[in-house]
Amino acid sequence: MALYPLFRPLAFALDAERAHRWTVGMLKRLPAGHPPRPDPVLAIDVAGIHFPNPVGLAAGFDKDAEVFRQLLRFGFGFVEIGTLTPRPQAGNPRPRLFRLVEDEAVINRMGFNNQGVAAARIRLTAPRRRLFETVRGTIDKLQCRRPGIVGVNLGANKDSLDRIADYVAGMKVMLGVANYLTINISSPNTPGLRGLQDKGALDELLAAAIETRGRDRSSIFLKVAPDLEARAIEDIAAVALGRGIDGLIVGNTTTSRPPLRSRHRDQAGGLSGAPLKPLALERLRDFRKATGGQLPLIAAGGIASGMDAYERIRAGASLVQLYSALVYRGPGLAKAVNKELKRLLAQDGFANVAEAVGTAA
Ligand code: FNR
Repeated sequence: MALYPLFRPLAFALDAERAHRWTVGMLKRLPAGHPPRPDPVLAIDVAGIHFPNPVGLAAGFDKDAEVFRQLLRFGFGFVEIGTLTPRPQAGNPRPRLFRLVEDEAVINRMGFNNQGVAAARIRLTAPRRRLFETVRGTIDKLQCRRPGIVGVNLGANKDSLDRIADYVAGMKVMLGVANYLTINISSPNTPGLRGLQDKGALDELLAAAIETRGRDRSSIFLKVAPDLEARAIEDIAAVALGRGIDGLIVGNTTTSRPPLRSRHRDQAGGLSGAPLKPLALERLRDFRKATGGQLPLIAAGGIASGMDAYERIRAGASLVQLYSALVYRGPGLAKAVNKELKRLLAQDGFANVAEAVGTAA
């Protein structure tokens, strides 16, 4: 991790998607190792799941569940794999991923490129192969320690004629494998997908999801866009509460374009990273107000420091997720965010994360 300042210029010399594949390739070669020792100040129970800390890796980095064990070792309290669709799909033509270095931002129009739910399920459940890993796994089992919390983010195929059926199909494959399932209806890169955020369609989708879950213990989260009007926020909050899902991720990338400096600023796709921060925080506050603290909120969008995480937690988030900042700050980020968060909690007299949730709402 200390080598990231040396690694970054090499990665940045490559096209962004190649750099990403290269990074995943390197991570694959690392032994999965062991996540850092949990800290009771940072641990939090959300939606019936015990999270060792509230800082998660957002969906999109490990779409196909190739390196989630290694990522947990970097100190993330949880890793969300996906988006996965029922059938594999290639996504949009390249280039489709852009670093906006001067803005500490990313624009992507990947379009749900992934190998499909079945391939990911095999990886999620596969025994660890290396001898060292197997021994470690056995010790974990004896000590009743799990490798970490893993969520699975589900989407619909681009050419699907029945999108709700796609979410149901994805759930059926992943039930019992993930700690939680995220219904992602907020990617701007699958035409029409965000239409599922409309009240009637959303109610139908969530009813189908709850029915599909049946008696399985997996929690269900819904991931929404930051680009929502006040009326839509009210509707989504009402439907989510009415159907009794377990949490709301606020949110995905934005199609809006705040002022940007980088040469890639006019690329089509979803914007993430530092310029998304004010919008994502505003949406979180809106959803906190609309749900009255009745529904766990997971904040994402422009989080890059312990202070950012603390601000979201005080605004009502029980958990946070990040992705783009990892590109700019490197793999030590999750530990650094947790360390700073712990200091901020202590400074304000909070005994743990849960005590701070929503205190500025
Ligand atoms: C994403 N994100 C994303 N979200 C999702 O639900 N499914 C996905 O497949 C992807 N794919 C994806 C690819 C890339 C390259 C990026 C940068 C982002 C969105 C991501 O999970 C997160 O919600 C946003 O990026 C906002 O957080 P950050 O990046 O500002 O911390």
